[in-house]
Amino acid sequence: MTVRGWQPGSWREMPVRQVPDYPDQAKLEAMEARLASYPPLVFAGEARRLQKALAQAGQGQGFVLQGGDCAESFADFRPNPIRDTFRVLLQMAVVLTFGSSLPVVKLGRMAGQFAKPRSSDTETQGEVTLPSYRGDIINGPEFSPEARLPDPARMEFAYMQSAGTLNLLRAFATGGYADLHEVHRWNLGFVARSPLADRYQDLAARIDETLRFMGACGMSNAPQVRETDFYTSHEALLLPYEQALTRVDSTTGDWYACSAHFLWIGDRTRQPEGAHVEFLRGVRNPLGLKVGPTTDPAELVRLTEILNPENQPGRLTLISRMGAQKIAEKLPPLLRAVKQAGREVVWISDPMHGNTHTAGSYKTRSFDAILAELRGFFDAHAAEGTWPGGVHVEMTGTNVTECVGGAHKLTEADLSANYATFCDPRLNAEQALELAFLVAEELKARRQPATAPLIAAQ
Ligand code: PEP
Ligand code: CO
Repeated sequence: MTVRGWQPGSWREMPVRQVPDYPDQAKLEAMEARLASYPPLVFAGEARRLQKALAQAGQGQGFVLQGGDCAESFADFRPNPIRDTFRVLLQMAVVLTFGSSLPVVKLGRMAGQFAKPRSSDTETQGEVTLPSYRGDIINGPEFSPEARLPDPARMEFAYMQSAGTLNLLRAFATGGYADLHEVHRWNLGFVARSPLADRYQDLAARIDETLRFMGACGMSNAPQVRETDFYTSHEALLLPYEQALTRVDSTTGDWYACSAHFLWIGDRTRQPEGAHVEFLRGVRNPLGLKVGPTTDPAELVRLTEILNPENQPGRLTLISRMGAQKIAEKLPPLLRAVKQAGREVVWISDPMHGNTHTAGSYKTRSFDAILAELRGFFDAHAAEGTWPGGVHVEMTGTNVTECVGGAHKLTEADLSANYATFCDPRLNAEQALELAFLVAEELKARRQPATAPLIAAQ
């Protein structure tokens, strides 16, 4: 069934931002046709299952963990970075499940997160100005005129890399790697290494005890312990690529974007009359919408109506990314407006994108600012009587030095040691897991109002 007035290509009639002008139109069209003939990467039934899980989270019966690279890169298409990021996401999920006593929906920014919106169309180094790097699916990061030319051939490599990544993630999720006992053992290793070991010991010991109890009850081999549900997501920025992978689901007759289970609209492309909103309103996948500090409450309500006209639970996740300084002022009016309009949404916090600053020649983020934004997110929801349904983080499973702070007290002087991102700074494995422990403490404390919120004590 087609949504009223919508076609997979109806976005082409609308003003479009952040999609490059390809110099060779014939080459672009040939690539779109080729991708349209390839197999879908995900099955519509999986997207529907994810929507059900998100619906639970929207109603206070679940918590969402969305995380991964700012931008995946062709250079990193190797097994270890995929395995390591997946592993840390699972480690975080165990801790959050324990903290919230709720199921955690695991959504990777993986297997398709290749296209980047940019604040500036150009980049200048010395005397030379070139088009900005827009992600490996569009152009190359090297500072040369050739690399920065948008090339449709890159879409095919991105598709292949997404397929290979997704295949490994599916194998890990169900093939034994995701066993809860294993994941917990990795967490014990983290706790032992952490300068804050004393603080995390208690939570880890309680998870340990729970697993032993479950084992004693004969539940060690249950599929819920040995396997996990893991979904993929990315920003649906490059619309020619997304359209080429949009298919009719033969079981329902509905259109699905088959490049990932969950797609989101970025803060720079959320205009109600714009091409990105037009494209995404017509596909049935669960969607995300980034909500930054310039969002007007009435416009946000309008966007929820356009993107979720049937007001289905789990269809729309609002990803708040205000900045630690602004969240107390900017988020509450939005929470109120959406609640008063009776709109079904899942609210989650992206504490990364409003907290980027420059230190020397590096873009970085401070762990304290990230925690401060999360605290502001929980406070705003507590005050408005709405559910803080999850977190969205840029992180990686490797030992990068891109964000400052955390238990190991990374400083600006340390950034050069292993600064590997092509785009935004990510939490490294230790920082990401530490964040999960702190959020878990916060969730636990808020379930028992007599205890003071523990993030505040940082
Ligand atoms: C991102 O998630 O990488 C991003 C660019 O976010 P935002 O649209 O919120 O700036
Ligand atoms: Co980013």
